[in-house]
Amino acid sequence: MSKKVLVLSASPRKGGNSDTLCDQFMLGAQTAGKQAEKIFLRDKKINYCVACDACKGNSGNCIQQDDMAEILAKMIAADVIVLATPVYFYSMDAQLKTLIDRTYSRYTKINNKEMYFIITAADGREQAMERTIEGLRGFTSCLGGAKEKGILYGIGAWNIGDIKGQPAMEEAYAMGKNA
Ligand SMILES: Cc1cc2nc3c(=O)[nH]c(=O)nc-3n(C[C@H](O)[C@H](O)[C@H](O)COP(=O)(O)O)c2cc1C
Repeated sequence: MSKKVLVLSASPRKGGNSDTLCDQFMLGAQTAGKQAEKIFLRDKKINYCVACDACKGNSGNCIQQDDMAEILAKMIAADVIVLATPVYFYSMDAQLKTLIDRTYSRYTKINNKEMYFIITAADGREQAMERTIEGLRGFTSCLGGAKEKGILYGIGAWNIGDIKGQPAMEEAYAMGKNA
């Protein structure tokens, strides 16, 4: 059975730098015969976790009526999960953090995933991405059996399109192919 790849694209800019790298990852994965799906979070309604704990008495189901139940089901079913975010003030963006917080109701069911991170930033220094990566690891460290398989740095990219022609494009394709 082919691997199921789920790409969570958190930039508010469709066709932006991280979203473009997500598409490259998808292309590589599909070329290699994997079942790959990208979810562009901006197209989805994802409310904040309000820490009501209603999920604890509701068989692990959040009582909020939005798109998160469907996304969570896909995260649980995936073999590979890609978290893609632009760097905002040296951290992940709010869209991705909101999604992560909403996994609260069922994150214990997101087990044995191969995880990839795609990060884009204006800053060209890889070491300046550490805080963002640590933030993402904060999430993956809570998942049973998660394996961090790769980090893609789309750095030195400010405007939409800046990533095109950079080595990160080929790297994203190869990463998807080998995922
Ligand atoms: C609100 C905001 C905060 C940002 N903060 C940073 C930052 O701390 N460091 C950095 O290098 N770039 C920062 N940037 C630039 C973005 O990370 C950069 O434009 C990136 O390519 C955006 O990726 P995207 O096209 O996938 O949205 C910021 C941009 C915005 C809009």
